[in-house]
Amino acid sequence: MTPISLSDTDPAELAVDAIVVGLHATDGDSGGAGPLLAPGAESVAAAFEGQLARTFAQLGATGAPGEVTKLASLGTISAPVIAAVGLGPVPTDDEGGVAPDTLRKAAASAVRSLAGLTKVALAMPAPDGDEAAPALRAIAEGALLGTYRFAGYKTKPQAGRRDPVKAISLHVADAADKTAKAELKRAAVVTAAVARTRDWINTAPNDLRPPRFADEVAKAARDAGLDVEVLDEKALRKGGYGGILAVGMGSEAPPRLVRLAYHPSSAKGGRSRVASVALIGKGITFDTGGYAVKPAQGMWEMKSDMSGAAAVASTMIALATLKPKVSVTAYIPMAENMISGTAYRPGDVVTMYGGKRVEVLNTDAEGRMILADAIARAGEDSPDYLVETSTLTGGQVIALGKRIAGLMGDADLCERVRAAGERVGEPAWPMPLPDDVRKGMDSDVADISQVNAAMDRAGHMLQGGAFLREFVADGVPWAHIDIAGPSYHSGEPTGYWAKGGTGVPVRLLLDLIDDIAANG
Ligand code: BES
Ligand code: MN
Ligand code: ZN
Repeated sequence: MTPISLSDTDPAELAVDAIVVGLHATDGDSGGAGPLLAPGAESVAAAFEGQLARTFAQLGATGAPGEVTKLASLGTISAPVIAAVGLGPVPTDDEGGVAPDTLRKAAASAVRSLAGLTKVALAMPAPDGDEAAPALRAIAEGALLGTYRFAGYKTKPQAGRRDPVKAISLHVADAADKTAKAELKRAAVVTAAVARTRDWINTAPNDLRPPRFADEVAKAARDAGLDVEVLDEKALRKGGYGGILAVGMGSEAPPRLVRLAYHPSSAKGGRSRVASVALIGKGITFDTGGYAVKPAQGMWEMKSDMSGAAAVASTMIALATLKPKVSVTAYIPMAENMISGTAYRPGDVVTMYGGKRVEVLNTDAEGRMILADAIARAGEDSPDYLVETSTLTGGQVIALGKRIAGLMGDADLCERVRAAGERVGEPAWPMPLPDDVRKGMDSDVADISQVNAAMDRAGHMLQGGAFLREFVADGVPWAHIDIAGPSYHSGEPTGYWAKGGTGVPVRLLLDLIDDIAANG
């Protein structure tokens, strides 16, 4: 990962390759004021005798969020390049500063646009003291995510492709400030978890089939100091994991169930009983749809159908370093949904973990099959909270788009998940689980159907949630986060998203776990 440090040296005197300053938009009606420099850039502005904002305006800068404008400093300050990044309008007193997600996106856009340079310093607005924490966290995370790039598989270096920035420093009032140092450390761990998630998602699906994915997760988790257990197909058979086996045995690369556990050390005192959380993530390493085969166009994006698994595994690995006072156990089912003589078929009845029988109606609804087993298993630990995340339905994308995840489950827990998502810029929106959706899933032959055949595609996302609910142990508050849209970004890089896996909802999960550590 890219090193990041704090600096309280005058930004105008820093020996770096570029300085990033913030630029606010003003509305043109107020006397053609033009963009305004944001706090943090005072000494750089002084070196331009007060003409820096005007110079950027002459270059076309408006201060619109995410816009980056570069200027050669020609010896006015130590850094040869000044980059102004737009932060939108000047925040009002009520707003109390630029929104953290705006800062996060701006820092990322600026750092990405400076690829090819070695050292970059950011002199962006962060107030002093404890109030600075959210802004500093956001700027640090954004700057680090702006250096993300997937190594890829090219056999030759690409002409004109510039390497990501190699070192970042953040200008603060006091580089020895404890809060600031802690935020920087946390940002490094969190963004490493996001990058690890993205790398797994972006890996070609022939390179990350279930046995290999399980090995990689197990190795990384063991290195981090987590408890690790991997169930292979034999152990899954012995354990009665019918859902994972039904989906996974259509592939020559057999399925896995990975269990990771983090327990805080009790030696340091504190509360005698800490809360316990179960995390579950969908790990379909490739989703062809099975006999309900998907159309060829865009099928390649189904290499991202293990985004939930990658996010949960990376979250667990980050917890080993962040050490919150919560016990967290992850169950990560992994399978490849393929077509073959051993693949499952529509009409099959599958006995799931825990004994419920499911009538399969659509082999492309494979996520809920492997998740149901994992959810049922997790319930045996009687966790205080159960949070599951998956690229479960195309219906989520239709309903909420590519940015906002769908959220279903226990109302109070969903509200906490929603709030965590809002705090970190990984939005998730609550959805209902209506009775009629569940009723239509009554099966003629088994305990439950896998989908609501009568409704077909209506309420698709809700059908997924209603099915999963059946496997949650009584009395366990649970939340299902459908990330089909936000887990993968197919467009050009924007803000802290590169093309490909986004790492959603790693930052949400880590924030939620902090909330549970603080408030139970
Ligand atoms: N992995 C897909 C959902 C998906 C779609 C993720 C688009 C990301 C982008 C899932 O396994 C699936 O195929 N769902 C079906 C469910 C249906 C067959 C009940 C869907 O959404 O169409
Ligand atoms: Mn599918
Ligand atoms: Zn799938």
